[in-house]
Amino acid sequence: MQKRTSFMGIVFALVVLLVGTSSVLAQVITCMDCHNDTTLITGKKTAWSETMHGTGTAYLRGTSAGCAGCHSGGAFSAMVAAGLTPDTVEAGDPNPTRQDCRACHQIHTSYTSADWALETTAPVKLFALEDVTFDGGKGNLCANCHQPRREFPEAVDGMITGISTHWGPHHGPQSAMMLGVAGSIKRSPSAHAMLVRDTCVTCHLGEGANHSFEPSVKACQACHSDAEDFDIDGVQTEVQAMIDELGDALVAAGVLDENSEAGHPTVTEAPEGVASALYNWLYVAHEDKSKGVHNPGYTKALLQAGLDAMAAMEAP
Ligand code: HEC
Ligand code: HEC
Ligand code: HEC
Ligand code: HEC
Ligand code: HEC
Ligand code: HEC
Repeated sequence: MQKRTSFMGIVFALVVLLVGTSSVLAQVITCMDCHNDTTLITGKKTAWSETMHGTGTAYLRGTSAGCAGCHSGGAFSAMVAAGLTPDTVEAGDPNPTRQDCRACHQIHTSYTSADWALETTAPVKLFALEDVTFDGGKGNLCANCHQPRREFPEAVDGMITGISTHWGPHHGPQSAMMLGVAGSIKRSPSAHAMLVRDTCVTCHLGEGANHSFEPSVKACQACHSDAEDFDIDGVQTEVQAMIDELGDALVAAGVLDENSEAGHPTVTEAPEGVASALYNWLYVAHEDKSKGVHNPGYTKALLQAGLDAMAAMEAP
């Protein structure tokens, strides 16, 4: 009786071992879909390591709840899984990570190559704006973080208050710029928001999914066949000239710090016209940074409205 029990025990243990090993083996084989001798991982990692996602220090802000959803890769994944948005994240991330492979991809979820799937591509309701949704295919991934935290505020008795050195829509409002919203005036979405499939991803990663996140001229040539750089029809040159002119006017009026590169307002309140000029300038020059490419029409309209407001102020 004694013998028989121990024999059954051994058989049972063997069965467990066999079944266990084969599933472990199967798992190891799927690991090799990614962890192998190709440059599948290293090819992307090399480029990513030199980008702001890979080198920037803004991830350190992820320790605060209000910043975690966009600034910590880990908190971003947790936010998406919980169906939250950056403004509803309740806790900071004590161990913030960069915007890394795990932030954008579902790495180590199923442990198969299906884990290259993007963390999310669902349309993004821009939380700081009323009824505005960014729906740009795979670019929706980017828009979760690259969206404004504020829009131009309502004036009270013709005055805008609450201006600080860090005023403006916050860094990275590119999704709103593409849609033509969040400045002192509204316009329509750019042709690029409507016609470029996968928006941000198509221009900033290109065909080979290059992880430098730098836009490529090749991506433009699909539509602008004779493009040699991003300054198509001289639009970037024109926008830069408007940025310089409006920046000078704002510095001269004493509302923008002389070192305009830093983008720091020097006042805490201003009449609506001047405040809107300041806001639009910060939006285009300091935060969007595409010099018109994301939305040529809206960019020029924002700067022109600013120039007009400053001219109206100077006129007696
Ligand atoms: C979809 C592709 C993919 C699959 C499948 C995959 N990994 Fe990974 N793994 C990655 C990526 C991407 C990284 C991060 C690479 C980096 O930052 O250097 C990583 C990192 C790692 C690391 C380094 C430590 C860490 O966690 O960052 C280990 C160990 C690891 N994987 C083990 C495994 C094992 C074991 C399996 C199978 C059970 C597996 N991986 C399956 C993509 C994959
Ligand atoms: C988890 C949030 C998050 C996601 C998702 C995200 N980004 Fe970013 N991105 C950031 C943050 C934060 C920075 C600034 C990093 C720093 O300065 O440390 C940044 C920086 C950048 C920069 C550099 C800007 C500069 O000033 O040089 C580019 C370009 C960029 N992101 C493009 C993209 C694109 C394209 C996507 C989608 C494929 C994307 N990002 C997805 C948060 C994100
Ligand atoms: C909705 C997402 C989002 C939230 C919330 C957010 N940020 Fe950011 N932040 C970004 C993105 C995207 C960038 C990079 C934009 C770019 O370079 O175009 C950025 C850039 C920055 C930078 C600039 C990094 C540099 O070196 O230029 C600082 C500083 C920063 N954020 C601080 C904060 C702080 C502090 C908070 C919380 C109070 C916060 N952010 C909340 C998305 C966000
Ligand atoms: C800011 C977001 C972001 C980060 C960070 C990021 N990726 Fe990607 N990755 C993308 C996007 C977007 C694509 C294009 C996906 C598509 O076209 O379906 C992509 C595509 C890929 C592909 C091709 C996948 C396929 O299905 O063929 C690989 C491999 C890859 N990434 C690896 C990595 C690795 C490794 C890291 C970390 C070093 C990383 N990625 C970090 C956004 C990101
Ligand atoms: C039509 C192509 C196109 C689309 C779509 C697009 N971008 Fe851009 N983006 C550009 C170009 C071109 C620049 C300017 C590059 C330059 O002048 O060096 C730029 C600039 C930027 C910058 C500033 C980079 C820097 O180094 O200062 C960020 C950040 C950025 N884009 C993010 C995004 C995000 C996020 C999206 C989607 C919401 C997006 N872009 C959609 C083409 C595009
Ligand atoms: C899917 C097609 C498509 C892609 C890809 C594309 N564009 Fe465009 N772009 C358009 C359309 C359509 C217009 C509006 C019609 C026009 O003005 O030519 C436009 C307009 C522009 C304008 C304004 C031109 C003017 O005279 O006012 C600029 C600048 C521009 N694109 C730059 C770029 C850059 C830079 C890239 C690549 C990073 C790019 N585009 C990629 C379709 C595209």
